[in-house]
Formats: sequence, structure tokens, C-alpha cells
Amino acid sequence: MNMFDGMPDLGRNDECWCGSGKKYKKCHIDFDEKLEDAFRRGLDVPTHDLIKTAEDIEGVRRSAAINVGALDYVAERIRPGISTAEIDRWVHEYTIERGAIPAPLDYEGFPKSCCTSVNEVVCHGIPSEDEILKEGDIINVDVSTILDGYFSDSSRMFCIGEVSQERADLVRVTKEAIEAGLAAVKPWGLLGDVGAAVNKYATERGYSVVHEFGGHGIGLEFHEDPFVSFIAEEGTGMVLAPGTMFTIEPMINIGGHRIDMSDPNGWTVRTADRSDTAQWEVQIVITEDGYEMLAW
Ligand code: MF3
Ligand code: CO
Repeated sequence: MNMFDGMPDLGRNDECWCGSGKKYKKCHIDFDEKLEDAFRRGLDVPTHDLIKTAEDIEGVRRSAAINVGALDYVAERIRPGISTAEIDRWVHEYTIERGAIPAPLDYEGFPKSCCTSVNEVVCHGIPSEDEILKEGDIINVDVSTILDGYFSDSSRMFCIGEVSQERADLVRVTKEAIEAGLAAVKPWGLLGDVGAAVNKYATERGYSVVHEFGGHGIGLEFHEDPFVSFIAEEGTGMVLAPGTMFTIEPMINIGGHRIDMSDPNGWTVRTADRSDTAQWEVQIVITEDGYEMLAW
């Protein structure tokens, strides 16, 4: 994790570093003193480049509105009989028509505009003409958007027609686990408390939590610090200073937590035991008195 990068070299009457145009003493000086204090107490403190300004947050809001719109668009159309490539086309066209770019496309060689992960696929499923959704499937559609350089990222589960009680419960509990995580979000609190709350909610109900993947900082890049672990311990992790922005996106399995990354396509991740798995993803920014939900 990043270590505190120190109090900015600013006089009390200088303009604040955040771009507000206000004097430092009327703006972020108390904030910086709190960071410094947390650092002295031995906590993991975000560097200033992770603190989003009001302008950054406004840019991400506009990006996120497209991300949310794309997922709403998918929600209205997804049904048995369509291919996952069809979902990819919906997301691609919806995004491009609004002047934005699908962040997954060409990201480290990813070939499509969103991820579609069906049943035992944990994450990073590649949309395909050959993969046809059938009644009873569960699928995660993970959408990420770049607008004017601002990144947004969220994902949802969809149940295709009638699904088994077991699958319906997995999908519901995974969503509720995020809500438990959100309830643990406190400005100046700790990121590990959020991950631990998600973990507790899922494991108490008999599910397992994937270790290797988690949420991430986001905003000016697709993946920024911190890594948001869902096997985190309470009382650990980065200080949630207002302006920190990240995703909460646990992957929850019916069976064991182990994953299989051996797919020759280099992307598709499956549960090792081929049990069903689910994921939802939201993107938030920490505010003075809580958080703002940006994408869901
Ligand atoms: N959207 C994923 C996330 O939540 C990242 C997918 S990377 C991709 O972080 F290349 F597979 F799209
Ligand atoms: Co993400």
C-alpha cells in the first residue's frame, strides 16, 4: 500500500491543492493534518494522487451515468436464446453512441467491450457468438466506461428465466454482501472493515469468497490503488479519506474458494470445483459524511 506522501508544501494562504480555488487554510489543511495524524498512528494512508477533487468526481459521475445506463440497457433486453456476443454489442454500441469508450476493449489484450461470466465462470468471461444463454443460467455482466479520461466500473448479475433456488440465493446473498460492506464504509474508517463485513456476510451463510480478485481504486485510471480485498481483516487497510474512490466487487462461490485460471484464452476464470459463483460490483467515492454511490 502507498505510504503518506507528506503534508503538501503550501502556506496557509496559498491556494489549496484540490483546485477549489480556496485558500489552503479554508480547504484541505484540516484534511491533510488528519492524514498526517493517521500516518503517525501507523495506519495505511492514501497518497494525494488517490484523492479525487470535485472536478474529478464530476467527471466520473458523467462516465458512471453511461456505465449505469449500459447495464440498464442490458437488463431490459437480456433473455434466453441470445448469445453473450449480443450483450457485448449492446454495451459497445450504447457506450460509443454516447461519446464514451468501453474500458475493457483492448485492455491488456482483452478482445471485447464487456465481460460476461456465466454460472461457474468467476470473472473475465469473453463474450462469444457460441455461448447462448439458456433458461436457468446466471450471468455477471461487467461494464466499464471511459468518458473524457474518467473511468467507471460496475457489474450486475442477471437470472435467465427461472433459475434454481440455489442459484437465486447465491445471487441475492452476493448482492446483500455488498450492502453489508457498504454499511461498514465510514469516512476516516478503514478499508479492511469493508472487506471483512462482506466476507462475514457471505461465509456466515455458507458461501466462500474468492481470494485472488477484489475491488480497486478507480477514477483517473481503470485500476488504481488500493486493492480491495474481501478476505481482509477488520482493523486493517487504507484509511478511507474523503475523496478516495474504489469498487466493491466480491466474487462469492457456492463451493470452495479456489479458482482455475488455466483457460487457454488467458482470461476466463472458473471455480476450481466448477461450483456456481456470483459477483456484483459498485463504485463509490468517500464523502465527508459517508459515501456517494457512483455506479451500480
Ligand atoms: N471490469 C473488471 C473489474 O471489475 C476488469 C475487467 S478487465 C477486462 O475490474 F479486461 F477483462 F475487461
Ligand atoms: Co472493477
